[in-house]
Amino acid sequence: MADTNASLQIGGKSFDYPVRSGTVGPDVIDIRTLYGKTGAFTFDPGFTSTASCESQITYIDGDEGILLHRGYPIDQLAEQSSFMEVAYLLLHGDLPNKSELETFVYTITRHTMLHEQLAQFYRGFRRDAHPMAIMCGVVGALSAFYHDSTDITDPKQRMIASHRLIAKMPTIAAMAYKYSVGQPFVYPDNKLSYTGNFLRMTFGVPAEPFEVNPIVEQAMRTIFILHADHEQNASTSTVRLAGSSGANPFACIAAGIACLWGPAHGGANEAALNMLREIGTPDRIPEYIARAKDKDDPFRLMGFGHRVYKNYDPRAKVMQKTAEAVLKELGVSDPVFDVARELEQIALNDEYFIEKKLYPNVDFYSGVILSAIGFPTSMFTALFALARTVGWVAQWNEMISDPDQKIGRPRQLYTGQAQRDYVPVGQR
Ligand code: ACO
Repeated sequence: MADTNASLQIGGKSFDYPVRSGTVGPDVIDIRTLYGKTGAFTFDPGFTSTASCESQITYIDGDEGILLHRGYPIDQLAEQSSFMEVAYLLLHGDLPNKSELETFVYTITRHTMLHEQLAQFYRGFRRDAHPMAIMCGVVGALSAFYHDSTDITDPKQRMIASHRLIAKMPTIAAMAYKYSVGQPFVYPDNKLSYTGNFLRMTFGVPAEPFEVNPIVEQAMRTIFILHADHEQNASTSTVRLAGSSGANPFACIAAGIACLWGPAHGGANEAALNMLREIGTPDRIPEYIARAKDKDDPFRLMGFGHRVYKNYDPRAKVMQKTAEAVLKELGVSDPVFDVARELEQIALNDEYFIEKKLYPNVDFYSGVILSAIGFPTSMFTALFALARTVGWVAQWNEMISDPDQKIGRPRQLYTGQAQRDYVPVGQR
């Protein structure tokens, strides 16, 4: 709904554009008719000032450090909810009542197995393949196995594909891990919770029963909830862009996984832990702080800074508490945690980081927890992809149902050669 207008002067002429207000957050200037009226485009590499869609799923106030899913603060969800409840909330808009939750959990649980032939797919990868390489391939390949849920014009098929993706992702990620360590795949056990089942498929072996440690299960649940969605981040925008052409949901989520892999996005948790291990002891922190501040050194403090948060990432606060609980329960005394805590304190009091509003993000402590639980660093981003699948499918469904949805097709500022004539090779 247009609340007011913004006017733009170009070449002595004035053009009016409606300003739209959301429930909360910055207004947007609706410039959809800009090119038609003025012949000009806007220029916004990295979309730092561009709202690419209308959404009702997640809200972030980066200045205040607030993250809401369908209106609920992330810390309340992380402390009180279950991952299945958050998945339902993101997909459907409201928290489920008891019977809705039971039905949802039952549905997800009944989709946890993978088509048996997909196991052959894994064996085609080298043993040292990165789990994210396997995830991209296997998730994309789901489209070849589940034809009955790829008609995106049918809301029922869209929901079945969403359930399948949420349900199968733990199985896919656990199998990627098992393959890398040369252990047999462990089939899902539907008596367990979503996270308990994932832990058993990852760390269990057929030779003996597996006991799920409740503190570890709780920590995994927290990590999954904290990663479930984060509005229009790079991988979610990738899923939306891929989906805007009508591609099937499995292909779209595979595209999201590919984008998430990068160290500036989902790969940052792996990079953060590697950095903390490289620093090794608190006395070496000043050296790394100096490198992060040096304009001629490409080094950045991994797990620090965020495009949207210019305050403490609310997820990082929960993550720090979880890290303490897990290390205590498992009796792990990891010097990396001491380095992390000290590095955080030093950076938070350093003029460079204060001025640029660089705070720890969700990835800063997650690696410490995952490592204590026993995951190799290469699995960290795969776990992020597992959890974020919930947000991706919710955002993908919202996009497909949006009557204003169009194929995503950005424009450009062309600075290459103007038209010129072809010259045969002998005359150049
Ligand atoms: N260490 C040191 N300096 C930094 C850092 C950092 N981690 N992050 C940003 N800066 C500096 C930049 O050098 C830049 O300085 P300048 O203005 O003097 O040129 C300024 O802060 C702004 O940085 P940009 O890169 O322009 O900010 P942008 O919003 O594009 O980047 C990003 C955000 C990619 C997350 C960045 O902060 C970064 O690379 N962080 C490390 C990687 C990381 O932790 N990523 C995880 C993000 S959260 C997630 O995906 C779940």
